[in-house]
Amino acid sequence: MKSPVFVCQSCQEPYTRWQGQCNQCLEWNSIYETVAKGPVALDASPPPTPITDIDINSPVLYTKTLPELDRVLGNGLVMGATTLLGGEPGIGKSTLAMQLAKIVTDSQLSVLYVSAEESTTQLALRANRLNCLSKALTVYTTQSMSNIVDQIQKQRPSIVILDSIQVVKDTGLPGVPGSVSQVHHCANRLVSVTKTMGCHSIIVGHITKEGGLAGPKVLEHLVDIILFFEGDRYQSQRILRCFKNRYGSTEEIGLFTMEKNGLVANRHPEKSFLDRPLKPNQSGSMIVPIQEGSRVFLIEIQALVVSSGYGMAKRTFVGVDQNRINILIATLEKNLSIKLSNKDIFVTVIGGYKLSQPAADLGILLSILSAFYTLPLSHLLGVVGEVDLTGHIRPVKQLNKYIQELSGLGFQYCIAPHQPNSTKNTTLTILEATTIQDAVQHLLKVSKKNGKVAESG
Ligand SMILES: Nc1ncnc2c1ncn2[C@@H]1O[C@H](COP(=O)(O)OP(=O)(O)O)[C@@H](O)[C@H]1O
Ligand SMILES: [Mg+2]
Repeated sequence: MKSPVFVCQSCQEPYTRWQGQCNQCLEWNSIYETVAKGPVALDASPPPTPITDIDINSPVLYTKTLPELDRVLGNGLVMGATTLLGGEPGIGKSTLAMQLAKIVTDSQLSVLYVSAEESTTQLALRANRLNCLSKALTVYTTQSMSNIVDQIQKQRPSIVILDSIQVVKDTGLPGVPGSVSQVHHCANRLVSVTKTMGCHSIIVGHITKEGGLAGPKVLEHLVDIILFFEGDRYQSQRILRCFKNRYGSTEEIGLFTMEKNGLVANRHPEKSFLDRPLKPNQSGSMIVPIQEGSRVFLIEIQALVVSSGYGMAKRTFVGVDQNRINILIATLEKNLSIKLSNKDIFVTVIGGYKLSQPAADLGILLSILSAFYTLPLSHLLGVVGEVDLTGHIRPVKQLNKYIQELSGLGFQYCIAPHQPNSTKNTTLTILEATTIQDAVQHLLKVSKKNGKVAESG
């Protein structure tokens, strides 16, 4: 008799006996007993083909009526491919899926919307609210993966939406729905039926508390496109990002606002992350242009610096990398010989945006400084620049694009790194800085023009 073989369903690491956690990928409850098989018959897969004989004109479905989605997908929805749509609960995954179904049914194609979470009444209510009702949209509520595959084979829809992968189950396997092995196997079955039937599948997936997609890492390798919803679900602003795309670029983001009748594209995307008109003479607030794909957006960084009580000074940051800001605070202390160790520092990026671009370094640094000195600033000031550990301001890519965007939106000043190729043909006054000290001098100038400089803190 063959001894049992245990394999981690997440990373395929073999074990001779069961254990709770995989030593390799550290996933819990992912190790299952599998039957060691002898030699097996060959699968019926197509023979090797010369690459020149392959038809590269796969049918594609464009989502032009939802231009922000089209921008993220790049080349539309390729038939035979699978998309994973992830995000926090309530962020708008089911809403986007339903709106996508409407686009497809408007193109005289059929959609099978499988909901394992919601009832058909809930789906019909949503479709009615979003104005997505159509005879070509079939809704199906089941938790059985075999039933889903059976229906896809019978109905032959153009698009299959599975909402969500964490609640379906393959009865031939151990484990509850949502477990690593179930998620992996169910997604695998859907990807394979999608390929054979030539439809496009959209798998809706939840995210874990840590922000990753719930389910094994292999799920990310299985699918062709990964779309991810970001943003604060308590606000209406939503960002759709593409993390993987086997058919196009992953650079562009889609910006939506959640309204009563669904996700709508923002009329002024460049100002999407500014939640109110800018106020003059505010301290601790800085406007920074950032680039996402081919577009430039303005974001507002706010800082608050107050005297600390007893014990360790508090450092709380929202939407910015903690390590990055700590480096910037240390650089600021060292270069300007100011003491921040006895100050509580809070920094927030407004609008639910998660900042990662180094070009925003100078903006973060100057917002902290403006808050520290209670320095009222012009609301028509933009800041760009990457700051290094020596206190020098490094050049940034696409500086001219930032300058043009700020100038087009009526900004008067821009503190920017010295770059020989920067545009001079603008209504904007460019205040060039090579060190933090230069930037501070410019900040004081801009502040004096618009208000009185307060006493230092
Ligand atoms: N009647 C409504 N009016 C406006 N917005 C609504 C309405 N019903 C739901 N929403 C919005 O839709 C969101 C839920 O979207 P949904 O697509 O179900 O999210 P997910 O599938 O990601 O959990 C809610 O957070 C809310 O913002
Ligand atoms: Mg949902």
